[in-house]
Amino acid sequence: MTVTRLIRRVRFAAAHRYRRPEWSEEQNVNVFGLCARPNYHGHTYTCSVTVEGPVDPLTGMVIDLAVLDRVLEAEVVARFDHRNINLEVPEFADGGLIPTGENLAQFILDRVQTALGRGVRVRSVRVDEDENLSALVTRDS
Ligand code: NI
Repeated sequence: MTVTRLIRRVRFAAAHRYRRPEWSEEQNVNVFGLCARPNYHGHTYTCSVTVEGPVDPLTGMVIDLAVLDRVLEAEVVARFDHRNINLEVPEFADGGLIPTGENLAQFILDRVQTALGRGVRVRSVRVDEDENLSALVTRDS
């Protein structure tokens, strides 16, 4: 038995910082290091979304690629590209989610799955902050 997965990548450039408002500046710097600097900094992210499901025998595809691309444009690129994640994406505002790769990957997986509905399964989302750091969220089994 085989499983077929399709991996689509999108890129976005965005700024962020890591900060817990209930912590002192010293505590934020101790935990988050350079990522706690108050004036934000940027990354060019690569986001890889893996979907899986049966291959349609008529199209040879797991999903209509145009549908997946529309969802990734709306849920990932439009939401994050050339934005300050802390200031412009409400879930990542001060006191909310810390905009780490881990949290971004989970957030994107949930959003993309909701947008795609039940027809196809989002198996995993990987967020690469740069060539040396990736966060990967994968569903069980
Ligand atoms: Ni950073």
